[in-house]
Amino acid sequence: MEFGSTILDYFRDESAEATEFRRLHSKMLNLHGGQEFKNVLITSATISEGKSTAAALLACTVARYRDTKTIIVDCDLRRPRVHTLFGLPKDDGVADVLSGKRSLDACFKPSPIDNLQVLTSGGVIDNPTELFNSPRMKDLFSEIKFYFDAVIVDTPPIIPVTDSLILSTEMDGAIMVLKAGETKKQIVNRAVELMRNSGLNILGVIVNNMKGVLPYYYDHRYYGYDYTPGSTEEKFF
Ligand SMILES: Nc1ncnc2c1ncn2[C@@H]1O[C@H](COP(=O)(O)OP(=O)(O)O)[C@@H](O)[C@H]1O
Ligand SMILES: [Mg+2]
Repeated sequence: MEFGSTILDYFRDESAEATEFRRLHSKMLNLHGGQEFKNVLITSATISEGKSTAAALLACTVARYRDTKTIIVDCDLRRPRVHTLFGLPKDDGVADVLSGKRSLDACFKPSPIDNLQVLTSGGVIDNPTELFNSPRMKDLFSEIKFYFDAVIVDTPPIIPVTDSLILSTEMDGAIMVLKAGETKKQIVNRAVELMRNSGLNILGVIVNNMKGVLPYYYDHRYYGYDYTPGSTEEKFF
């Protein structure tokens, strides 16, 4: 994906990404007994594994194919990217609501996809951890869930900052993005351990085959999805 592209460049009906995410979405439903997940965190062990891209594509897919009120929320206050993917200004978002500068309903931004709204990260702040760990974060999500049927949350990676784990009680679970062939097994296992310890349900793992390192018998070009009730280890390494 080229720098500066927006998610719409990739979310066209005939695009490989849109097709993969449609497949991924139905696979998720099948693996979870047809049960639709409503509120999910997208995370990864480390940076640059493709979380924000996957979160945006998943949000577009859910909004389009479920035909339900959906929002993508950028909770990566350190390296926000959702606004860029949707070609929106970053300001008036999560940080502004948490710091009491804006009301939530004044911050929802429309996206080019029907049924999908965006809550960007908001203005620059110097205390993301403090904001994240304040009880207002949980309140914010209770309120978001009141307005939307499906909530997709882009978060910082687990290993450097465990901030996003505070949301575990507000979410149905997390989907972990894993950059195929690159993320070290010990790091992934540590991230999984941290998620489990905080009671965050791992709904599945998206294997992002950015550089085509997976062998051909993985019959997908970019993404794979799997449910990992046990260890991630036996499946991905
Ligand atoms: N499947 C993919 N194929 C090619 N490039 C990708 C893919 N997924 C992500 N990228 C690129 O990798 C970089 C990091 O992706 P991003 O979604 O911002 O990761 P993260 O949120 O985990 O830091 C971006 O430049 C993005 O365009
Ligand atoms: Mg990101």
